[in-house]
Amino acid sequence: MNSDKIIIAIDGYSSSGKSTMARMLAKTICYRYIDSGAMYRAVTLYAMDHALINTDGTVDTAGLIASLDDINIDFKLENDSQYTILNGVVVEDRIRSLEVSGHVSPVAAIPEVRHSLVKMQREMGATKGIVMDGRDIGTVVFPDAEMKVFCDASPERRAERRYKELTAKGENVTFEEVLANVVNRDRIDESRDESPLRCAHDAIRLDNSSMSIDEQNEWLLELYQKTISRHNL
Ligand code: DC
Repeated sequence: MNSDKIIIAIDGYSSSGKSTMARMLAKTICYRYIDSGAMYRAVTLYAMDHALINTDGTVDTAGLIASLDDINIDFKLENDSQYTILNGVVVEDRIRSLEVSGHVSPVAAIPEVRHSLVKMQREMGATKGIVMDGRDIGTVVFPDAEMKVFCDASPERRAERRYKELTAKGENVTFEEVLANVVNRDRIDESRDESPLRCAHDAIRLDNSSMSIDEQNEWLLELYQKTISRHNL
């Protein structure tokens, strides 16, 4: 066990800027970064590609559970960018589409899907030195994480960020569609029975509605420095 390293859990609402700041912190302090949302997105893409999403948009839960052992998710780091790999194929762009965003919350609400991904996430953090972002990292995956942050921003601000990201990639979406997706995902993520989106009792809350990316990064780095000095590392 690498006792000089810690686990950093960054949770929060969709498009609340978690991934951007988590990735930057990991790079600065030479930790591994894991985007747990990408793992739920990869399972969703697998379901879409294997006809496990019914025509009415519901999930073929039994079919997906039966396929879980066939889903292999990995990440590769290249030129500072992280790419999600599903069964040997890079799917980074495909998992970010609005179509995947539209199906991911019901997939992420299936307990068996969560158990399988949480197991993988804990293995990734077994030697510490990891920054992981998601919805349940500080509450379920690593309840003993030394540093926990919970991010929020107004739905409009979050939708605006996501809209810019998607249109920059050439996706044909409207701001209203993106806002509806953000609000709907938050509702499902917060109200599901299995590990719903919650702020851990010992997490530091950050509302970054009016913060720039640089300000966010600085805030997070300062919190990290305070945390390691508190742990005498
Ligand atoms: O962070 P994101 O928007 O890429 O996450 C996609 C979806 O995955 C999100 O709507 C909820 C789900 N998710 C989850 O339930 N638990 C996590 N740890 C990460 C994501």
